[in-house]
Amino acid sequence: MALLEVKNLHVEFPTRRGVLKALRDVNFTLEKGERLGIVGESGAGKSLAAFAIINLLSKPGRISEGEIIFEGQDLSKMDDTQLRSVRGNRISMIFQDPMMTLNPVLTIGTQMIETLQAHRNISKEEARLIAIDRLNEVRIPSAEERLESYPHELSGGMRQRVVIAIALLTEPAMIIADEPTTALDVTIQAEIMSLMLDLCKMHNVGLILITHDLAVVSQVTQKIMVMYAGRVAEQGPTRDVIQNPRHPYTRGLMSALPQQNQAGKRLYQIPGSMPTLDAMPEGCPFNPRCEYVGERCYTTVPELEDLGGHMARCFKARELKESGSLS
Ligand SMILES: Nc1ncnc2c1ncn2[C@@H]1O[C@H](COP(=O)(O)OP(=O)(O)O)[C@@H](O)[C@H]1O
Ligand SMILES: [Mg+2]
Repeated sequence: MALLEVKNLHVEFPTRRGVLKALRDVNFTLEKGERLGIVGESGAGKSLAAFAIINLLSKPGRISEGEIIFEGQDLSKMDDTQLRSVRGNRISMIFQDPMMTLNPVLTIGTQMIETLQAHRNISKEEARLIAIDRLNEVRIPSAEERLESYPHELSGGMRQRVVIAIALLTEPAMIIADEPTTALDVTIQAEIMSLMLDLCKMHNVGLILITHDLAVVSQVTQKIMVMYAGRVAEQGPTRDVIQNPRHPYTRGLMSALPQQNQAGKRLYQIPGSMPTLDAMPEGCPFNPRCEYVGERCYTTVPELEDLGGHMARCFKARELKESGSLS
C-alpha cells in the first residue's frame, strides 16, 4: 500500500462572480520514505495542493472532488478530531516562515515538550530527553541550553532547524515542506536542504517538497510534479523529467536555471506570466507563452499523456526531443 494516494483532486473557491477552479485533476502517489517535489511558478497551486492534502484549506476553499488516501484512510472524509490525530503526528508541515510553527512567547524546550506530550503518553523528563536528541540531530550546538531559548534569540537558519526538529518529534510518516528554505539566507539554504534530506532518509520519512527551485528538486526527490495554473503540466521520475522534459513549460523552467546560463548573460526567463484563475485563456493555459503553440492549443486543453511512467499535458509531448527542437 502506498503511503499517500491522491486521486482526482479538485479544489475550488466559490466567489460572487462564480466558482474559481484552483486545482484540477491532480493525481499522484507517494511510497513510504519516498520524496516528491512539486514545482511551478508562484500561483501555480503548489501550496493549495499541500493544504488540500492535510484537509486544511482556508475557507471558502474546498475540495470539490477527489480522494486523499493516507495510510489507508481518506483524509478528505475525516472530521476535525480524526484530522488532529493525523496532523502534527503522522504528518508534519514545515512552512517558509519558521514563525508559522514557533510560538514567540514560549521557549524552544516548552514547545517541544508540549508537542510531544500532546501526542505521547510520556513524562516531562522523557519528553525533554527526546527534544534534546532531536536538536542534536538537526545539529544545533549546545542543544540542552537551547531548550531555554526563545525563538527570537535564534537566527533564521537555527529557527528552521528547530522547526525541522519539531516536525520529526512525533516520528511522522510524512513531512510536507512548503518552500522551507526560501526565506533563509542563500548561504544556508543548501545546508538546511541537505539536513532535511539526511533526516528524511534516516527516519524513512516520506517528503513532499514544494519549491520553485528545480535544482533543489533534482538533488532531493525521486519524483517530480510540475504544476501550471492549477493543473499538473508534467510528472514522473525526477531524473527523466529533468533530463528529458516533455512540456514546454518545464523546458522553460530548466532554461531559467542559473547553471544553464552562461556567465555574464542575462538569466533566461519564460516570457509573460501565468494567467490568474479568473482570466484563464481558452485551450491550454500555457498557450500565450509557448514557443511551440499550434492551432488546437487555442481551443482544447491537452490531456496528461503517458509517455511511459512520465506524463506531460502537451499535444507536442511526443515530438519534443532532448535537443529542445521539434522533430
Ligand atoms: N483563499 C483564496 N481565495 C481565492 N483564491 C485563492 C485563495 N488561496 C489561493 N488562491 C489562488 O489559488 C492559486 C494557487 O495559489 P497557491 O497554491 O498559493 O500558489 P503557489 O503556492 O503555487 O504559489 C492562486 O491563483 C491563488 O490566487
Ligand atoms: Mg505557495
